[in-house]
Amino acid sequence: NNEIISLEEITEFKSSSEEFSPYAWYKDKLQNDPVSYNEATNTWNVFRYNDVKRVLSDYEHFSNVRMRTTISVGADVDEGKHAGKFNLMTDPPEHRKSRSLLAAAFTPRSLKLWEPRIQEIVSELIDSMEDKPVIDIVDDFASALPTIVIADLLGVPTKDRMLFQQWVYDLFLPMPKENQETVNERKRKAAVEYYSYLYPYIVQKRSNLSDDIISDLIRAEVDGDQLSDDDIVRTTMFILGAGIETTSHLLANTFYSFLYDNNEIYAEVRDQRELLPNTVEEMLRYRFNIAKMDRTVKADNNLLGVDLKKGDVVVAWMSAANMDGEVFEDPFTLNIHRPNNKQHLTFGNGPHFCLGAPLARLEAITGISMFMDKFARIEPVPGFNLEENLTPSAAGKMLSSLPVRVYRK
Ligand code: HEM
Repeated sequence: NNEIISLEEITEFKSSSEEFSPYAWYKDKLQNDPVSYNEATNTWNVFRYNDVKRVLSDYEHFSNVRMRTTISVGADVDEGKHAGKFNLMTDPPEHRKSRSLLAAAFTPRSLKLWEPRIQEIVSELIDSMEDKPVIDIVDDFASALPTIVIADLLGVPTKDRMLFQQWVYDLFLPMPKENQETVNERKRKAAVEYYSYLYPYIVQKRSNLSDDIISDLIRAEVDGDQLSDDDIVRTTMFILGAGIETTSHLLANTFYSFLYDNNEIYAEVRDQRELLPNTVEEMLRYRFNIAKMDRTVKADNNLLGVDLKKGDVVVAWMSAANMDGEVFEDPFTLNIHRPNNKQHLTFGNGPHFCLGAPLARLEAITGISMFMDKFARIEPVPGFNLEENLTPSAAGKMLSSLPVRVYRK
């Protein structure tokens, strides 16, 4: 397994809320220390837009194959590992095959088929809020939606969704500083159970293909090669890791912004729904904390203005690059009318650009729009303590709860 690099030692945030709104740190780094070496972790860190873009996309110099990384997902048992034909932790040209096999499940055609299913899931979630005056946007909506959507798209039967949700939760628990063995034990158990649940299901799917991700992965063929049942179980685990917490984070943080960053946006977008896509892009730019990705230097170079040695780890801070004043005017202001906010780097850049970006956008736009159809107005609940409602996750500090007072039409 890869050695895990602790981000805490790079950022040294003093509180969870500081990590949740790390603007002062980004500002300082962008201005004063845009290419910096962090001794505690032996990593290089880049913050400016062009440097971040380069590190993510220039695979000739910055490799996605690594020994040390900031990503701590999966489990250290055979069932929890990437192996076999499918491996995206590679560089082109090798990367192309895995990417194409997976891309077979994420076509525009699939997206069209999925849209009504997403609507149905959103509708069920909203119905189950019944007439509660205060809802928890995290539990009732933001964390439920992406999990149920993926379970549905994989073709997991509705009755098994709770099981599924628990496995996903355990598999992607972040690694704490202490009690690592307890967390490892939960991850192993989840990986083994998930594997033994899904494997027979895939075997049975082979003779029963339909419109779901597993069927698409069974059909996918690149250069005469296809995925085995084992490859497919591991692939779905990767999809879960890439697609659930991230989308939950986007949804929860968007509501946080509606309540606390600028309380006029909700009404404006509710009345002018055509503003919603750009609003989601601005949330990805401004409130997707923390987006970062690491690469390993492939050969000695000076591309970032410092001497990089083969094997050095470079962490590219996308959410800092999203605040680069050279690219975004008045970058520290949340502005849903910004003309170029789609240029954010939250989905990455280059050959590894997020395959699930269209799905994440569709879930966010459908979810928020249907929420707005139902709720005329939302308000914060007095006494909400941000610091006490943030929890560690692979995507940085994440809201564990966000109470919202809702007013129905
Ligand atoms: C890759 C972000 C949602 C599947 C990536 C990368 C980023 C990212 C930054 C590039 C990683 C790198 O350069 O090494 C996000 C964000 C999301 C999101 C911010 C939500 C707001 C999803 C969803 C799925 C997904 C919903 C699928 C269901 C993938 C896959 C890759 C990827 C498969 C790997 C592509 C490759 O290496 O070629 N994502 N993602 N993501 N994402 Fe997403």
